[in-house]
Amino acid sequence: MAAKREHFGGRSAAILALAGSAIGLGNIWRFPYMVGQTGGAAFIIIYLLSCLLLSLPIFLAEAIIGHRTHAGTFGAMEQLAPGTKWKWLGLLTVLSPLVILSYYSVVGGWSVCYLWQSLTAGFHLGEIGAVSSAFGGFISKPGAPLLCHTLFLLGCAVIVSAGVKSGIEKFNKVTMPLLFVLIVVIMVYSISLPGASAGVEYLLRPDFSKITPSAVAAAMGQSFFSLSLGVGTILTYASYIRKDENILFTGLGTVGFDLLFALMAGFAIMPAVFAAGIEPGAGPGLIFETLPYIFAKMGASAPWVSAGVAVLFFLTIVFAAFTSAISMYEVGVAYLVEQKGFSRPKAVILIFVGCWILGALCSLSFGPLAGMKIFGLTIFSFCDTLTSNFLMTFGGLLFVIFVGWKMDKAVVRDEFTAGGASRFNCAVFDAFWFLLRYAAPLAIVIIFLTNFFA
Ligand code: PFF
Repeated sequence: MAAKREHFGGRSAAILALAGSAIGLGNIWRFPYMVGQTGGAAFIIIYLLSCLLLSLPIFLAEAIIGHRTHAGTFGAMEQLAPGTKWKWLGLLTVLSPLVILSYYSVVGGWSVCYLWQSLTAGFHLGEIGAVSSAFGGFISKPGAPLLCHTLFLLGCAVIVSAGVKSGIEKFNKVTMPLLFVLIVVIMVYSISLPGASAGVEYLLRPDFSKITPSAVAAAMGQSFFSLSLGVGTILTYASYIRKDENILFTGLGTVGFDLLFALMAGFAIMPAVFAAGIEPGAGPGLIFETLPYIFAKMGASAPWVSAGVAVLFFLTIVFAAFTSAISMYEVGVAYLVEQKGFSRPKAVILIFVGCWILGALCSLSFGPLAGMKIFGLTIFSFCDTLTSNFLMTFGGLLFVIFVGWKMDKAVVRDEFTAGGASRFNCAVFDAFWFLLRYAAPLAIVIIFLTNFFA
């Protein structure tokens, strides 16, 4: 318990790390296909409002707990509510990011495989159905996906074992600016393709008839996932932020970057989808089926350009997935080091073993273990549904109830306003307090029920 805690170097380092956690597969893979399925710009507007009015207050609630206590999830709850049942929230939010990490590493591994394929063999033209079945064939075989899952998780372990400052902070400082450069290059290229303007228009023209209650719940759920809420990663990273830092500005910076990146990913993908004459509502297969088809199609006339864009694209996905995965990894490491007295390397190894095993089961559930069902779902789908639909929202709900209803208002105000030093924060505190106590819990219950009955 007594080990000296590390800190991020400053505000930009903290924002880059938090944005690194937030920006991931959710921005590149989930956001564009949800826009595609749910009415283009109308969805984007709802999403923007969800980020600012719902997810930002929840983000701040988690950050306030971590920043106040300078402890990981379990230690933080023990400090603020000693000897109470709130410690179970601390424990739950150690376990849920590790479950997410296990299957996230499988998808991260697929991206590593596709990056390798873009660098070596490239993608070859067939019917789009043939590309889909190639993807289906790839994930159902045990060998390559397991190897890539192992490599991906190993990469995370190496970064996390180097520590908060020399590992996580350094990696994010290099990768995050690079990610933005990569996505801008792909976006410019995509928009310049013949026929791409229909994709741009699709993203910008709102179709309000598509805004149904389930679209609103989907937008709120997506902002939740995208900002890594409810699973203790924001809390843990905020615990590494220096005492005098302004948490609201850090939160606004993180939400801003996350939003910007999701929008740029939309503009990088949709124009290319339209230029290739493909239906925009392709769904989850967008990245591993639709895009390889587009690269293959481009490759028929301009092989080098197509290969280059494919490499840049999968590199972006791999980096974005890495920066998110290490934030989940760190939650477990912080717990084992601070609460169980493990050395960092030992904690890293233990988590590697646990997540590797669960991830391997998830990976095999697309092939040899496909018949093994939990509540009618494959192991992968079960872990995904359990965490993204239930544990994240449940954890988020408990965090906002804890900060809004259990913590002393004076303490929350002190954290929110940087000890009263920020006039801007003082001016918006009441709005934050209202959103936190009433709007956020209500919205989370709506998302929860929608997920439950959907
Ligand atoms: N925010 C990440 C993404 O958009 O891909 C996903 C994520 C990261 C979820 C970290 C949960 C988490 F703890």
